[in-house]
Amino acid sequence: MAAKIISGAEVAKQIREELKREVDQLKAKTGIVPGLVTILVGENPASVSYVTGKQKTAKELGFYSIQDNQPADISEAALLALIDQYNKDAKIHGILVQLPLPKHVNETNVLYAIDPKKDVDGFHPVNVGKLMIGEADYLPCTPAGIQELLVRSGVKTKGAELVVVGRSNIVGKPIANIMLQKKDGANSTVTIVHTGTPPEKMIEHCRRADILIVAAGVPKYVKADWVKEGAAVIDVGVNRIGMSESGKAILAGDVDFEPVKEKAGLITPVPGGVGPMTITMLMKNTVKAAKVAAGV
Ligand code: GUN
Repeated sequence: MAAKIISGAEVAKQIREELKREVDQLKAKTGIVPGLVTILVGENPASVSYVTGKQKTAKELGFYSIQDNQPADISEAALLALIDQYNKDAKIHGILVQLPLPKHVNETNVLYAIDPKKDVDGFHPVNVGKLMIGEADYLPCTPAGIQELLVRSGVKTKGAELVVVGRSNIVGKPIANIMLQKKDGANSTVTIVHTGTPPEKMIEHCRRADILIVAAGVPKYVKADWVKEGAAVIDVGVNRIGMSESGKAILAGDVDFEPVKEKAGLITPVPGGVGPMTITMLMKNTVKAAKVAAGV
């Protein structure tokens, strides 16, 4: 039977409507408007597209928002000084530096420089550590969006065999940590497979998964015979595999969508699956940061 396709776009729209009401109430009660700055270094086309989406949504929700574009050759010291300026700016509650950064800039130094209270990406080591012990203030946006999609789609997570493909700091490690917490919407038995896993073991692990989360960065990597009948398959991949005649990027996920959808119980499409959720979770974190600053 063909899988139910989970529309991240629809779930995201629903959450954004909830957030808009929260923003309006916060403004009415306290006069505080959530403030978000997105810093983009250079002109990587995928990054440009991501920050454009983030800014558009921030504006739709009535945020005070700044898109700060910096040249690809900005020095690390200048970037750190810029972050410090936003750390001190009371109108800004959330700071996001779009990754990846150019090679001459040390990404760790940049992430460490963001005030953890304004780290709406959830990448500062203080927030990473809090996540590990189940005390997160800000969950990283893509993993938070995945959990929200699973919960709002009615997927049973407690006791589920959950396999994550990929161990990145942005997706693989945090989603594994979120889903193993002893909490509602989590409490799964978690396995992470990665480039060090022998190929035959990789397939074996994936085939056991009730929930399969794929963030491998390889287009159409997961095949139908890796997937258990009825599994929930979350595809985090966004791979540009070509260009349409009108100049639009043609995207593919990390899952071989057409054959896998005949086997899975639930599946997220690319685009329109996890992507819109990531942006929405960033907005949710920024509203939370503004509320903390407002003391409500
Ligand atoms: N690059 C890819 N995903 C992300 C993300 O969630 N946050 C930031 N800052 N950069 C990214």
